[in-house]
Amino acid sequence: MKFFLDTADLKEIEKAAATGLLDGVTTNPSLVAKTGMKFEQLIVRICELVDGPISAEVISTNAPGMIDEGRKLAAIHKNVVIKLPLTQEGLKACKTLSFEGKRTNVTLCFTPLQALMAAKAGATYISPFVGRLDDIGQDGMDLIQDIRTIYKNYGYKTEILVASVRHLEHLLTAAKMGADVATIPYKVFEQTLAHPLTESGLARFLKDWETSQKA
Ligand code: E4P
Repeated sequence: MKFFLDTADLKEIEKAAATGLLDGVTTNPSLVAKTGMKFEQLIVRICELVDGPISAEVISTNAPGMIDEGRKLAAIHKNVVIKLPLTQEGLKACKTLSFEGKRTNVTLCFTPLQALMAAKAGATYISPFVGRLDDIGQDGMDLIQDIRTIYKNYGYKTEILVASVRHLEHLLTAAKMGADVATIPYKVFEQTLAHPLTESGLARFLKDWETSQKA
């Protein structure tokens, strides 16, 4: 399973990348806005920090605009993945950019049929937003299971990138379901490694060692 970091914060990306466990990064316009940096400069910096797929989102709402932006973003670095919204225009752009051999991440997916359409448009990744579905009283993880079933039925190669992950339970369920990728906030990335029994167990080992070796 691949782990992407869902952030545009360079410090967080640097810390996660230093573990050697980070496979890529996803950004979105809201995350970019928080940094106060110019978009292109930010993407260049992220590409310098992480050697993996870096999703950069277009802001045009029509296909020609998205295609133009997507080509420019892809030219920044070989690792840039063009992020497109799951709209008719977004899927038109996806089809064209995929045909050109560019990698795409279709975002803001909330239903299995939207995911099916994105796969038909040749998306490299589909990003179902599980947390935002939970927020409106649906079980976001059901969507992942449905997409898995549909993609398996027809042999689609589009990778399921579980997005809007809020906590460890989302991540664990995604892993059990066999999702290809999860994009997670830095807080969740840290939580995957932490357990109080690991901490207290290590403290005890070190204390016992010190006592025995001093004697
Ligand atoms: C996905 O690529 C999005 O950036 C992200 O996962 C959205 O998450 P949110 O619902 O926590 O904003």
